[in-house]
Amino acid sequence: MKTFTALSAILISHACAQNGVLDLTTLANYANQPVPAYITKDNTPNNNAITDEGATLGRVLFYDKRLSRNNTISCSSCHQQENAFGDAATVSTGVAGTTGRHSMRLVNSRFSTEVRFFWDERATSLENQTTRPIQDHVEMGFSGTNGDPAFAALVTKLSAIEEYRVLFYLMFGDAMITEARVQLALSQFVRSIQSFDSKYDVGRATTADNQNFTNLTAAENAGKTLFLNPPPQGGAGCAGCHRSPEFDIDPNSRNNGVTTGFSGTDLTNTRSPSLRDLVKTNGATNGGMMHDASFATLDQVIAHYNAIPADNTNLDPRLRRPGGLQNLNLTVTQQSNIAAFLRTLSGNSIYTDPKWSSPFNAQNELSLIVLPASSMTFQPLGNGTAEVTNRGVAALSYKLESSTDLTNWTQVTTLTADQTGFLRHAVPMNIQSKCFYRFSYTPPSL
Ligand code: HEC
Ligand code: HEC
Repeated sequence: MKTFTALSAILISHACAQNGVLDLTTLANYANQPVPAYITKDNTPNNNAITDEGATLGRVLFYDKRLSRNNTISCSSCHQQENAFGDAATVSTGVAGTTGRHSMRLVNSRFSTEVRFFWDERATSLENQTTRPIQDHVEMGFSGTNGDPAFAALVTKLSAIEEYRVLFYLMFGDAMITEARVQLALSQFVRSIQSFDSKYDVGRATTADNQNFTNLTAAENAGKTLFLNPPPQGGAGCAGCHRSPEFDIDPNSRNNGVTTGFSGTDLTNTRSPSLRDLVKTNGATNGGMMHDASFATLDQVIAHYNAIPADNTNLDPRLRRPGGLQNLNLTVTQQSNIAAFLRTLSGNSIYTDPKWSSPFNAQNELSLIVLPASSMTFQPLGNGTAEVTNRGVAALSYKLESSTDLTNWTQVTTLTADQTGFLRHAVPMNIQSKCFYRFSYTPPSL
């Protein structure tokens, strides 16, 4: 008998490449990421808790240009990891022109009481949001209008791709693709994108918001106080709408006085993403701020709130004063202190963690490892049998075959990898004719 390792199956769907290999036998941790104890808001619905399998499928979908009708645009074209999943451009380019609003950063989307998404909150949940860009004529082009193919054509397109049959099977236990399943997977991935390694978090881990943090400068602590306190107490009132420690938007917030849109006045914008990672830790921009990206710097943002420029029918009453509009009369130093505090809300890992990066290589190819050859073992058990084991992917089904000549293979059994991904089967040691064993994997059919 021999230990045979070389013939285990690796599913390589395209030309083999170093980048663009996703090892499903060791999934990244999305489900059990550490979340600080002081973070309590969570909009995850009961039926869609993050799993490593689901977020892995979501990651592939998020970066796959085949989700656009002409294979040129993915979610990541407009939501770029290097910009905290926002876009440095004022408007983003889709398959048929440019977007009507600025692309929002996707950071800590999970940690809010607000469950509605988009600047104007037209999506009733993150799940509902995620397939809208695909069905948008401008963005990804499966709109079913204006000569575009409908979403059903995308389902047919994805169903023909072997990797997706494996990945949907992994998440759902069968390979069927539906719009609801695409929504579940994409929103698991988006919810997994979290940023809690900021200077603010280091301080907040040991100290309540209303105390000075020992790791912040005097200016940053002063800015924190101004951000948190309401105007009657000498503060700037920011936390009334952007609530610490998540810095998520108050669901009751109305318009903040930024009314310019790309196609005329736009009073509908009442949502902001979390104020974390507005800029990078070095202060460099992640793109313009507000729905129209009209503010390039934090100073411009604070100057806006310092003196709200004009009233409108949807302006939040918190920004009005008896007989007029909010004018905080902040000094230049106070304004720069608030900016200094906002910069403490930026983390590092969101820009660099590979689990949120593209799984594809430069040629847009992706290979899935479902059975690494190097981990096959053959262990005599001492009772005339031996155990053949391999590292596989939990819940996937594999074939174990034997051969005497490496040419003709006979099926010994089929078996499903256990919860830890292991495949084990005992075979007799004394049958000299059966010298070679291999595991193999066939993607499920629909
Ligand atoms: C062509 C650019 C473009 C593409 C492609 C795109 N988006 Fe967006 N995304 C935007 C813009 C612009 C907005 C804000 C639109 C608005 O509010 O009207 C946005 C908003 C969002 C939001 C709302 C965030 C919040 O805090 O409310 C989420 C989530 C999101 N996109 C996820 C995705 C996903 C998932 C995909 C891929 C299926 C995707 N986007 C594809 C440009 C794009
Ligand atoms: C009455 C509620 C309200 C108050 C008070 C408020 N904001 Fe906002 N904020 C919003 C809304 C709504 C938006 C999104 C508006 C838009 O894009 O048109 C927003 C957007 C922002 C943005 C842009 C976010 C992004 O991702 O582009 C920043 C930065 C910001 N606010 C900072 C502040 C600061 C600093 C203060 C205090 C000086 C403050 N806000 C006070 C409601 C408020």
